[in-house]
Formats: sequence, C-alpha cells, structure tokens
Amino acid sequence: MQLQIAPSILSADFGNLARDIRMLNASADLVHLDVMDGSFVPNISFGFPVIEAVAAVATIPMDAHLMVVNPGKWVERCASLGVAMMSFHLEAARDEAEGILADIRSHGMKAGLVINPNIPVEDLYPFIGKADYFLIMSVFAGFGGQKFIPESLGRIEKLKAELDKAGNDAPIEVDGGVGPANAGLLARAGASIFVAGSSVFKAENPAEAIDLLRNPR
Ligand code: DX5
Ligand code: ZN
Repeated sequence: MQLQIAPSILSADFGNLARDIRMLNASADLVHLDVMDGSFVPNISFGFPVIEAVAAVATIPMDAHLMVVNPGKWVERCASLGVAMMSFHLEAARDEAEGILADIRSHGMKAGLVINPNIPVEDLYPFIGKADYFLIMSVFAGFGGQKFIPESLGRIEKLKAELDKAGNDAPIEVDGGVGPANAGLLARAGASIFVAGSSVFKAENPAEAIDLLRNPR
C-alpha cells in the first residue's frame, strides 16, 4: 500500500504557521491536526480558529485527530472547515462510536477510529467496515515528542491481519514517536499513514525528513 505522510503541526512553529503549511503542501500527503481539550487528555493544543488558518493555506487534505470528550459534538464544525479525515478515540465515545462514524461519513469526511496503547486492539474489530481508517497510537495521546512504544508493531500486525481476513482495505494510521528508525518496521507491520511531529519539524530539513519517512528502509 502507498505510504502517506501526515506531519503533525503540534510541533510546527505557530509563529510561522503559514510558512510551515506551505512546506507541507510541497512535500507531505496530509496535514495532521491534533486537537486536545485538556479533559480527555492532560493537555490543551488548539482548536477551530487554528484549523481555519491552516485550511486557508493547506492544499493537501486535513486529517483531524480529536482527543476530546464528546467528539460527536464537533462533526459538523470539522466538515464546515474542510476537514477531509476526522478521527476520534473509542475510549471517549464507547457507546456512540458507531453513530459518530456514520455521522462523519454522512458529512462527506473519512471516519477514523483511534485507540490509546492501553486499549486492546480487538476492541476495534467490531468497527471494521464502519470506519474508513484506524489510528493506532504508539504513545499515549497528549503530547508530542514521546518515545515510540514498540508493542505497537504487534498491535498493527494483528489489526492488519484482521482487516485482510475481512477483505477490508481500510488504512492503518500510526501516531507517536514515528521517525526514520521505525518507519520501515511500521510499514512492514501494515501501517500506511505515518503521523510525525517532532521527527519532521525538529529536523534540520523537514522536507527531507518527510522523504525519508516515505522511503523507509
Ligand atoms: C500525540 C499526538 C501526536 C503527536 C505526534 O497526542 O496525537 O500526533 O503530535 O508527535 P511526535 O511525532 O513528536 O510523537
Ligand atoms: Zn495525532
């Protein structure tokens, strides 16, 4: 499967956001937007005004990762800002997950379901066919710059095998501590959308770092 690189602007320079987005337009596949509410995760990042500013400059699709309680509340708003892919955590909406996925789809966006590293990967299986992609967190959601959790590889392999068994080609996105050292392993495990914050934006040459992720060893 073709790899897609989704740099997370959590690690961008917010004083030069338009410049950083233009760099992504020329080198990345998606812009990853980490929305944190300080309740679902112990950190606050940014919200709709920033997404609006990104939308004004981005020519590549926006991939919004909602780390918030009550994610279903924001489907309409994301759609109206031009978000192409919207994901939320299963832990944040156990009982409503199926309905929210359907609502995201009905708003013309791709619907993604996310789990933190402490949630069994099997919990995603009932949603195969109901989500357009799955996001496996390889760190606990909340902060950029954390260390990749190696057990994530086996979780991705398991989910990939389950998707294959179902004849479902929903991509697996991976988020947290992704960089040149694990990109090859992740691709072989079955991930095809790589979120990367610090390994892209803290690199001396971010565009080159994106290329490195796209062609992993
Ligand atoms: C963590 C976010 C990630 C994060 C990735 O809660 O979902 O997208 O920004 O950052 P790095 O690549 O630095 O781990
Ligand atoms: Zn994210």
